[in-house]
Amino acid sequence: MRSFWPVHAGEAVWDESAHTHWIVVDGCRCGFVRAFDLDDGTPLFDLRLASDCRGRGIGTAALGWLVGYLFGLLPGINRIEGTTRDDNRAMREVFRANGFAKEAHYREDWPGDDGTLHDTIGYALLRRDWMTGTTTPVRWAT
Ligand SMILES: CC(C)(COP(=O)(O)OP(=O)(O)OC[C@H]1O[C@@H](n2cnc3c(N)ncnc32)[C@H](O)[C@@H]1OP(=O)(O)O)[C@@H](O)C(=O)NCCC(=O)NCCS
Repeated sequence: MRSFWPVHAGEAVWDESAHTHWIVVDGCRCGFVRAFDLDDGTPLFDLRLASDCRGRGIGTAALGWLVGYLFGLLPGINRIEGTTRDDNRAMREVFRANGFAKEAHYREDWPGDDGTLHDTIGYALLRRDWMTGTTTPVRWAT
């Protein structure tokens, strides 16, 4: 990857509570990242790449960029959250590589196209952990 660049996706997908950026790599539009609930204390996001752009580190770079963008844009937020399906190994690696901790495991919560019920995994990154490069453990036992 020679250059990774997020580009404002236009007013139609941009307001106070949701910001969408195209992900442009080496001049080609590869996908988008949409952050939402920006006015609700803890932002969430959706990240999607075209199939021929996957597996090249772009998702990891895009989430890393988004984290810095949101913590810089919104000084009052303490967390960024996201969820994915349990079998989405690539997205789970993208969360892990960016310091997100697994905080939730929702059993049989996500219906697949064939009717199979998949689990949903919830992740979050604390501002403090992002700034220090550490991971505050979840207190599962309390
Ligand atoms: C999920 C998605 C954003 C990941 O982005 P990506 O650019 O393909 O991911 P990366 O290339 O940064 O890879 C991240 C890690 O996942 C690993 N990975 C990729 N596919 C994997 C798989 N099937 N099993 C295990 N690990 C996998 C990669 O090896 C990499 O790990 P590494 O850095 O240790 O080598 C992208 O694949 C995508 O848009 N998928 C479709 C939409 C989607 O599922 N979005 C998430 C919605 S919650």
